[in-house]
Amino acid sequence: MSQPKKSEFVVVANRLPVDRVTDEDGEGTWRRSPGGLVTAIVPVMQRREGAWVGWQGSPDEDLEPFEAEGMTLQPVRLSAADVELYYEGFSNATLWPLYHDVIAQPVYRRKLWEAYERVNRRFARAAAEVAEEGAVVWVQDYQLQLVPKMLRELRPDLRIGFFLHIPFPPMELFQQLPWRKEILEGLLGADLVGFQSRDAASNFVRLCRRICDLKTQRHDVMLDDRTVRADHFPISVDAHELIALAEDEDVQQRAVQIREDLGNPASVLLGVDRLDYTKGIQQRLQAFTELFEDRRIKVGDAVFVQVATPSRERVEEYRILRDEIELQVGRANGMYAELGSPIINYMHTSYTRKELAALYLAADVMVVTPLRDGMNLVAKEYVACRADLKGSLVLSEFAGAADELHRAYLVNPYDIGGTKQRMYEAMHAGPVERARRMRSMRKRVIEHDVDLWAKEFLDALEAGR
Ligand code: ADP
Ligand code: F6P
Repeated sequence: MSQPKKSEFVVVANRLPVDRVTDEDGEGTWRRSPGGLVTAIVPVMQRREGAWVGWQGSPDEDLEPFEAEGMTLQPVRLSAADVELYYEGFSNATLWPLYHDVIAQPVYRRKLWEAYERVNRRFARAAAEVAEEGAVVWVQDYQLQLVPKMLRELRPDLRIGFFLHIPFPPMELFQQLPWRKEILEGLLGADLVGFQSRDAASNFVRLCRRICDLKTQRHDVMLDDRTVRADHFPISVDAHELIALAEDEDVQQRAVQIREDLGNPASVLLGVDRLDYTKGIQQRLQAFTELFEDRRIKVGDAVFVQVATPSRERVEEYRILRDEIELQVGRANGMYAELGSPIINYMHTSYTRKELAALYLAADVMVVTPLRDGMNLVAKEYVACRADLKGSLVLSEFAGAADELHRAYLVNPYDIGGTKQRMYEAMHAGPVERARRMRSMRKRVIEHDVDLWAKEFLDALEAGR
């Protein structure tokens, strides 16, 4: 292998922004990786010189560093066993449910933890190799919480930041984790630990005090030789990219076409998510279906479009969820659809940014109902695209985005009755009411976009040098 080029700025994330996929002819090609982390970090990296260290999404492949979409990418190899134990196992069967309010039961197995440690060490070594003397290294998300400490041991000269894209649980839940102290110590290897919300940051500080027996003061955790700052930096979207997409004539025509294809109903409702049990897809579809059952709406009044990107398909909970949703959609259509007019259109696929923007423009009501979500960028993407001020947003109180988008129709997604009522109100809101709400939400998203998020985090990281 050739010696990697050194960088002054390094992002370390479980995934690279592109996924290696093998097409029907057996040829390897690249596709944009799923999830909010990639959506947010791509524009940040494209505007800065730097290297992105991560896994390319397929097992057992050794790849040389390469350039893609204007970024320098440094692949980290994962074996099939690493994917099973570190990625599907400790990351997505242990940490993901634990950090999302234990919506699913977390799996605690020592073998998974050992793989997590082993793979985190590999990422730390890869980052240490590409970082220039005194570089800034920004470690991302729950898959890599041990990297800050491991990296500091290898390279004490670096300035290390960590950002958690998902919620950080309260003490009552975090305490379940058999490796709770090791995770906290891992994060404390950073100079700055960033969270999506104020609550998450204070959960972390409180845990450092109680579990690691450390002195803390507001945002600071005091170690013997240095102070670690923990604060909240709510992530956002590339508002200008989305505004430009929404102004594109092809996108606007496509939006008109989508509505026509749906039979030009009075209201188009839209859900766009990874197919994940945290997203509350079943709850929102149930609420929508009940509006038909209650005869408050009928075919022609409303159509629901649910786009669900395939995600973590080998993890048991995700397989069960897919089956349940497909059954639910089939039942709802079986009960209430008319020939050629389903009430729910369900697509298990991912789309290009252009097609997503067209869907956002075609939707009168965007329905975002996670049971728990660190932020939820889909909600902000919808708002950024609606310069016409015509759409309404139904948003879960349990998404980080609800802290900023106060003018959404806020719902408790566990309350199906309340959710269907708010959905109904959003569908029937007049143009003045829609515009009033949307204007206020757009102001927030445009002023607090992803560039400001990155700047505030990186300025805070530099400030402590
Ligand atoms: P998460 O990070 O949990 O997946 P977010 O809502 O924060 O949730 O981010 C999801 C990102 O993935 C958004 O940028 C969204 O546009 C994108 N996305 C979600 N579903 C699809 C899809 N079906 N096709 C293409 N992109 C999608
Ligand atoms: O922030 C949420 C997140 O889990 C990212 O860390 C992750 O890259 C993305 O969603 C998609 O999940 P996965 O990488 O497991 O497909």
